Amino acid sequence: MKYKIRVIHGPNLNMLGNREPDKYGTSTLDEINATIESHATKTGITAHTFQSNHEGEIVDKIQQAHDSYDGLIINPAAYTHTSIAIRDAILLLEMPIVEIHLSNIYKREVFRHKSMLCDIVTGQIAGFGAYGYVMAVDAIINSLQLIKNSR
Ligand code: DQA
Repeated sequence: MKYKIRVIHGPNLNMLGNREPDKYGTSTLDEINATIESHATKTGITAHTFQSNHEGEIVDKIQQAHDSYDGLIINPAAYTHTSIAIRDAILLLEMPIVEIHLSNIYKREVFRHKSMLCDIVTGQIAGFGAYGYVMAVDAIINSLQLIKNSR
């Protein structure tokens, strides 16, 4: 069976490339998505990417992932620090989940140190820029293999 993973990018990440490049790097979201998709294909899985600036749309996509995907990579961006709705949606999922941030949120303003998801995801990657998404794909594949081998 070929694994399928959902990748969700939260608000303002559509502006990557122009947005605070000192913090988030110079890659555009299209470039990051292309890297994710090609790395996923190389490793034998499929990745579908989605970006929204709207909390409800992100909740919808998480809900839809429940029956259609084997893993989730999510950068909830500013909603990381505030969204109980996204937390509650994530709690529905029984699959490996990576929370990812381009920047190291723990080296930044205090209000970014709190993640509403950190205690309910499989793991978190923060501070490695766009490369973190490649790490996240590998982490999901590794978790899926561990689950398969334990059956
Ligand atoms: C971010 C960190 C968040 O604090 C911020 O609101 C973002 C991006 C990151 O990828 O480093 O929009 O999630």
